[in-house]
Amino acid sequence: MSYYLNIYFDAKTETTAQAVLYTDITNEALSSACARVEFKNTDGQFLTVHGDDSSTLIIGTGEEVLEKSKAETIGGKLYKQLTKQPFLNTSLDLGSLDDVHAAHLLHGARLASYSFQSYFTKGDKKAETTLHVTGLSEEAKSIFEKLERLADGVKLARDVLYEPANKLYPESYVERCKPLANLGLEIDVLDEAQMEALGMGALLGVGQGSVRESRIVVMHWKGGSDEAPLALVGKGVCFDTGGISLKPPKGMEDMKWDMGGSAAVVGAMCAIAGRKIKRNVVGIIGLVENMPDGNAQRPGDVVTSMSGQTIEVINTDAEGRLVLADVLTYVQQNYKPQAIVDLATLTGAILVALGKEYAGLFSNNDNLVGQLQTASNKTGEKMWRMPVGAYFDKQLKSHIADMKNIGTPYGGSSSAAAFLERFIENDTPWAHLDIAGKAWSDTGDAITPAGGTGYGVRLLTEFVENWQDIDG
Ligand code: BES
Ligand code: MN
Ligand code: ZN
Repeated sequence: MSYYLNIYFDAKTETTAQAVLYTDITNEALSSACARVEFKNTDGQFLTVHGDDSSTLIIGTGEEVLEKSKAETIGGKLYKQLTKQPFLNTSLDLGSLDDVHAAHLLHGARLASYSFQSYFTKGDKKAETTLHVTGLSEEAKSIFEKLERLADGVKLARDVLYEPANKLYPESYVERCKPLANLGLEIDVLDEAQMEALGMGALLGVGQGSVRESRIVVMHWKGGSDEAPLALVGKGVCFDTGGISLKPPKGMEDMKWDMGGSAAVVGAMCAIAGRKIKRNVVGIIGLVENMPDGNAQRPGDVVTSMSGQTIEVINTDAEGRLVLADVLTYVQQNYKPQAIVDLATLTGAILVALGKEYAGLFSNNDNLVGQLQTASNKTGEKMWRMPVGAYFDKQLKSHIADMKNIGTPYGGSSSAAAFLERFIENDTPWAHLDIAGKAWSDTGDAITPAGGTGYGVRLLTEFVENWQDIDG
């Protein structure tokens, strides 16, 4: 449960391994080594040169002006090089990079170095890597420190994604959230009795087949002046068997990360508070376990949501929307947010539509979409807007209740979003991100190891930091 990269800012350090940016090479032997192997200085190209008593890792950065995200990618690739001897203890002079890019390069290395090690007792543990960085200005160090608070949030999100469901269930998840109070967040927890009193029949119906009790966690950050908060809402299904509408066994273990939306929200709240962002933000997550059991809800059951609307539960595997319905109502009634963004590993259909490259974005407000898209472009956490509205909403008609919880077999991500929209009051600006294809990666990328990605933490933090009020 930790990073395996130590970053130190030293004036001068004796290491037998050093890394240098290609553009900084003044040493004749090194430049001729580069010439001999036709080092092209493309970004992320590396060359190792072994001397008699020291080794040098040459880093290609590309010719064009660096972008932040490119600097992060190079940092991520650099980290990979540092995990091998003799580079486990390396010095690096970043004096020739400007402050922003130097900081982001280190941030990329930080994100890439995440590794979940909690349950290895032997063998597989990773070696620690140490990077001694010189040449950074005070400004670059302070930009990096701010990015470290973001990395804290990404790390927290990844930690909870990796945890198996016998370790991370609603009550133990609550314990993971409580320490965030140390950052100045106000943490409130709703137990089942309180949810019962509030009439949260939709959420409680999902959890009723599990021996684990359901919970809601509210994380309130009051960094702003007298303004309505932004609401970040997360699906926290700690395990999704499908319930009585049981899923097939193959790949069911993946459903331990069906709390990926909540992980993004918890991680973002950690980063927002860690960076003391001057906004009011309420993060709220609905935590349940969806199990088949003698007491589980049945297909055809009718539940009454906190909003008063009744729902015919045709498929108990369409549970995320039931959880979110009550959480959305609760956050609107209690906090009157100026905008709501929910994140959920909601549908397999979003993988059919967008593959593993984009999250699906659904919204009732173009301004909100624009602000999210800006944050997405800046952070590289990709999303693509999908339709929602009357065509999909119609599919939810039930003959016995106000709505049923699934639509037709086609466009399943959009009918899921249409279901959620029924719980948005007074046209509050709302966006829903279906992250079923993004929460976990089997391949990883330069700054994201394969596994729980923490998708959404950087996007949400950037979004909140640059929030502009929507008029009218
Ligand atoms: N948690 C799943 C969606 C999911 C699928 C997440 C794959 C991550 C990877 C969700 O609760 C679910 O089961 N959705 C159903 C909805 C259907 C019953 C309408 C689905 O996608 O099959
Ligand atoms: Mn499900
Ligand atoms: Zn689910």
